[in-house]
Amino acid sequence: MQTRRRFLTSTSSAAALLALGPLRVSAEADPAPGEGALAMRTIPATGEKIPVIGMGTSGSFEVGQGTPEYAALRDVLKIFFAGGGTVIDTAPTYGNAEDVLGALLAEQGLRPKSWLATKLSGVNGREAGLAQFDSTLGRLKTDKVELLQVHNLGDLKTQLALARELKAEGRTRYVGVTHYLEYAHDELADIIAAEKPDFLQINYSVVTRGAEKRIFPLARDLGVAVMINRAFEDGKLFARVKDKPLPDWAAASGITSWAQAFLRFALSNPAVTVVIPATGKPHRQADNLKAGVGPDLTADERASLIAALA
Ligand SMILES: NC(=O)c1ccc[n+]([C@@H]2O[C@H](COP(=O)([O-])OP(=O)(O)OC[C@H]3O[C@@H](n4cnc5c(N)ncnc54)[C@H](OP(=O)(O)O)[C@@H]3O)[C@@H](O)[C@H]2O)c1
Repeated sequence: MQTRRRFLTSTSSAAALLALGPLRVSAEADPAPGEGALAMRTIPATGEKIPVIGMGTSGSFEVGQGTPEYAALRDVLKIFFAGGGTVIDTAPTYGNAEDVLGALLAEQGLRPKSWLATKLSGVNGREAGLAQFDSTLGRLKTDKVELLQVHNLGDLKTQLALARELKAEGRTRYVGVTHYLEYAHDELADIIAAEKPDFLQINYSVVTRGAEKRIFPLARDLGVAVMINRAFEDGKLFARVKDKPLPDWAAASGITSWAQAFLRFALSNPAVTVVIPATGKPHRQADNLKAGVGPDLTADERASLIAALA
């Protein structure tokens, strides 16, 4: 017999699935591409295509087993895969996020459908990096990941060399570098030019557009895939549009929430491959996924969002 919490969880999950609206939903959790499906973009290094909406796990997956938040994450993942999502970003230093993610993917048999990105994070030296990666694989319950990133440029030379070694061994498909603050953009751009990683991950939003200066043009020139973090400024953008109506052009672009407008803004830069909003709430996961269907914003639409947030 279902417990009340279990019942509520599955009921809210069904409601959130319905809320996917025009986004094509698949019971197989693997919708075929086509009309209504999440848009895909190409990773230049290989030509592999990934869905434009991924998800983060910082904060949202740092929850205790057996809590209502943990139960909600089960639905967050169900909705994510049902809507066509695959790309999930995590890190060994996001509290217990890797453990929670690994357990929930294993429980639902979803590892084969997922495209996992994690990091070498806060470690110094090759041995420490290797030990951390081995532990990460255990926590994620897998024997390889799709993307291994050097977190916040820490111990860069050694950790990037290690990531490349692991790539050569088939334990990661791609290597990357990450940061999340604008002061590091110039250093990151220099590193990208020198190292040409497969991926870079950087912050970009309607109000923080520094990546447009050097990082995006460089990524396009060199064929580096771009993953966007903090498209909601860690949630702070929502307070800035509280009680503001959506722009009048939004509905015609299939945009029905500010979250979708913010994500579509990030995706409208042609250098961007995937954006990874984080939420622990099933209905917000459905909301975020819907940003991945519809046209890129025009220059005027982008300008109107920038003005709305100014
Ligand atoms: N250096 C790095 O490599 C680095 C740094 C920062 C982040 N990241 C990665 O990027 C991911 C995303 O960044 P982030 O987590 O800092 O911030 P974010 O995605 O900009 O914002 C997350 C916040 O937005 C809220 N939210 C999500 N969807 C929403 C919706 N549809 N409507 C209203 N509120 C919504 C969430 O609250 P609820 O959970 O309550 O919904 C949460 O508070 C991280 O999880 C992590 O994987 C990497």
